[in-house]
Amino acid sequence: MGKKIIKEVEKEVMPYYGKRGKVIDKNIYGDETSIFDKISEDIALKYLNDVNIISEEIGKIDNGSEWTVVIDPIDGSFNFKIGIPFFAFCFAVFKNDKPYYGLTYDFINKHIYEAYTGKGAYLNNKRIKIKEFDPNNISVCIYAENININAKRVRMLGAFGLEMCLVARGAIDACLDLRPKVRLVDIASSYIICKEAGAIIVNKKKETLNLELDHKKRYDIIVANSKDFLKLI
Ligand code: IPD
Ligand code: CA
Ligand code: CA
Repeated sequence: MGKKIIKEVEKEVMPYYGKRGKVIDKNIYGDETSIFDKISEDIALKYLNDVNIISEEIGKIDNGSEWTVVIDPIDGSFNFKIGIPFFAFCFAVFKNDKPYYGLTYDFINKHIYEAYTGKGAYLNNKRIKIKEFDPNNISVCIYAENININAKRVRMLGAFGLEMCLVARGAIDACLDLRPKVRLVDIASSYIICKEAGAIIVNKKKETLNLELDHKKRYDIIVANSKDFLKLI
């Protein structure tokens, strides 16, 4: 179903890319909802009946189901709006509050990242895994104040869910948000994908980070390829 949704979302939403679409509302976090966020969310909701929903623009709908779907209709809305080609659709399924399936779609590269819990992570149906730690060749995405890390490359790309997938496919070593700002909707799908690709996911105290189906909570998060990386922080 996730793949059906992304096809339709892509067709309806991409015409708005780079065009600063009209702001139509404010979401539950107080951020602007633009027309493209709403169109993407409405398409996803059309496919989902009787399940619980947590989605960035509408918030939480409790239908008393054992299934909960967590959606970020466009992760990287600002990038989308102004034409920076780095944004994604994020879709995660939980069964009885446990991660079950994650899908993160990179529209520009047509990369479908997917994982079922316990069954490995895939990029366009090919198995992916994290990269090996090499202290002389560290690449990392960081959202934090006052962090000093001896990395060769440091980035902040504006779509945290998609940045997590860069760790999953072994492009970079880690991504971190220590401010902390990210919410369940930003990280749920890619959390499942990263875990299945072999990443370690912890909070800033380096304790294992388990997701809670609490749409308001802000997470501090480190997604890394190894314990060796964690020692650098
Ligand atoms: C945002 C992006 C960004 C992160 C913000 C998020 P949005 O998501 O993931 O990288 O730093 O905290 O809110 O608002 O574009 O869906
Ligand atoms: Ca987001
Ligand atoms: Ca969003």
